Amino acid sequence: MKITFIKQDGSRNEADANVGDRLLEVGQAAGMPLEGTCEGQMACSTCHVIVGKDWFGKLPAASEDEEDMLDLAADVHATSRLSCQILLSEDLDGMEVYIPRESHNMQDD
Ligand code: FES
Repeated sequence: MKITFIKQDGSRNEADANVGDRLLEVGQAAGMPLEGTCEGQMACSTCHVIVGKDWFGKLPAASEDEEDMLDLAADVHATSRLSCQILLSEDLDGMEVYIPRESHNMQDD
């Protein structure tokens, strides 16, 4: 399956992925600036991505913990998610994922 990552400059990067992969690791393997500092513990929000509108509804809903963490992320949109919480399923083949403006860890500022 394929996942397309779109950066702020509009550049598109098509990544190969497998069912069951975590979106965070797929993005990192594709060279996207997703730090994933807490490695999926929902304690950092550096894995924040903005899911393409057409794809957002195909994802399982975010947990309350994920929503809380997203509240702290920069450049949050209605379709924002933590990529460490998204496991790829077959119907996400072709999904478009946007990289937010500030994807580094802001908590130290
Ligand atoms: Fe830290 Fe996703 S990797 S919240």
